[in-house]
Amino acid sequence: MTSTRSTEISLRVNGETHSLTVDNRTTLLDALRERLDLTGTKKGCDQGQCGACTVLLDRQRVNSCLQLAVAAEGREVTTIEGLADGEELHPVQQAFVDLDGYQCGYCTPGQICSAVAVIEELAREWPSAATDDVRRPPAVTEEEIRERMSGNLCRCGAYVNIVRAVTQAAKNEQVNA
Ligand code: FES
Ligand code: FES
Repeated sequence: MTSTRSTEISLRVNGETHSLTVDNRTTLLDALRERLDLTGTKKGCDQGQCGACTVLLDRQRVNSCLQLAVAAEGREVTTIEGLADGEELHPVQQAFVDLDGYQCGYCTPGQICSAVAVIEELAREWPSAATDDVRRPPAVTEEEIRERMSGNLCRCGAYVNIVRAVTQAAKNEQVNA
């Protein structure tokens, strides 16, 4: 049932389609957490400043607190719950485990989703503000990773190991590409 204030939508999340009626003002973050029980995506600031709510929308990273659920209809949403392949962790998740890329873990789902997209951005040779020569493919350096991950804050200050984990995962991806 759809009213002027609510809309029936079909959301495709982690390969599954969900039909739900949402208030038109519902953010994608709230739809994921409160309607679909996908609580891996975290709410930090709820205003686009911390990156805790990062998910992938058609494989690109977005702050889901700034995205309306109705605007995600027809697009492929991937959350932290959708990254592993059964029991096998996604390579970025494994790198965070191997290199202790977290402390309390609250920012971690957003960090990992962001990192997955960063690695794809590097593979597509998209430059960043840290890229020295934009005519050449960006190198996988800690400086490049720090710049690209700068929208994901960590209150625990686990940045050193987060950057190491993302750099290692990005280098492994290059080797396996
Ligand atoms: S909760 Fe979305 S950016 Fe902080
Ligand atoms: S690990 Fe605690 S906020 Fe990042």
